[in-house]
Amino acid sequence: MKKRLFSGIQPTGEVHIGNYLGAIKNWASLLDSYECIFSIVDYHAITVPQDPKAMPQQILHVATVNIAAGLDPKRSIIFLQSQVPEHTELAWIFHTLTPLGHLERMTQFKDKARQHRENINAGLFSYPILQAADILLYKAEVVPVGEDQVQHIELAREITRKFNARYGNLFPEPQELLSTAPRIMGLDGKTKMSKSLNNYISLTESPEDIWKKLSVAVTDENRKKRSDPGNPENCNVYSLHKHFSSPEEIDWSANGCRTAGIGCLECKKCLSDNIVRELKPIREKALALFEDPAYVVEVLKSGAERCQEMARQTMREVKEAIGLRVSAKRR
Ligand code: TYM
Repeated sequence: MKKRLFSGIQPTGEVHIGNYLGAIKNWASLLDSYECIFSIVDYHAITVPQDPKAMPQQILHVATVNIAAGLDPKRSIIFLQSQVPEHTELAWIFHTLTPLGHLERMTQFKDKARQHRENINAGLFSYPILQAADILLYKAEVVPVGEDQVQHIELAREITRKFNARYGNLFPEPQELLSTAPRIMGLDGKTKMSKSLNNYISLTESPEDIWKKLSVAVTDENRKKRSDPGNPENCNVYSLHKHFSSPEEIDWSANGCRTAGIGCLECKKCLSDNIVRELKPIREKALALFEDPAYVVEVLKSGAERCQEMARQTMREVKEAIGLRVSAKRR
């Protein structure tokens, strides 16, 4: 029996190479080793204001790009979170087990609360509880994510232990699984690559736009002139080479930088060509799938149907465990 794996992505903005290297590429490589369930987590997305008119398109966009990037619907389940209402039902039960202090410690909450001072809502605060429910509803044991999600998975483990201690052993403790690129920095070289900051390269970016963005990406800021030697360890372009370029090109980039043998622009051009090559099949597949939204809608619908069965079964067990199932039978 294969272990079950669960992961999710928010349908907000573009899917970028940080999502790809930190999560999606890893997901695609695990399809045959685990029983895989992937969710487009729209209920998470609405913890910050979204445009209701744009949302359906956003959901389809993110689902499409994920399929194009390797999530094969024949070898995994892909579904929309809000189509399986048991997610929020289980989340409510987990609310009653989660100390406020644990939520206050979450760095993602602190960051988002800083970014959205005008809308620090309760959903933003209890976001990781819904995430724990996503995973445990399917009793998933493995959760492949980027580094920014590790704290949330730790909280999911704490909720699991609390539930099991109070009501009996129902859930396995989920473990995060990091890729070899758990934290990709943005093109500003200073902050994590993120949909909400304009510091990313998206998976469907045109070759021209990839080059336009990379040509102004921040490199080692101490290398002021072409003739200055640089330090590749302080350069995000060099870090990206490690994920897109051949071993020879990675050495070429590091040595050329240290000896001022190559300029930053030359180094970026090589990286740009390699990113364009890796993203080409994804972009082509996505552009073709954008023309066939009915296929993607059907993938999500049949995914939700398969999830629904598992979710109902888990909720029956949960309600039984906490004493919420009544029957007229005499005991
Ligand atoms: P989200 O939508 O922000 O990101 C999706 C995945 O991409 C990873 N990621 C990165 N990895 C490396 N470098 C980066 N710069 C980078 N940016 C994003 C994220 O770590 C994530 O794995 N809360 C989650 C969604 C979620 C979820 C879940 C995940 C909801 N329920 C249950 C796992 C299990 C989120 O906001 O991901």
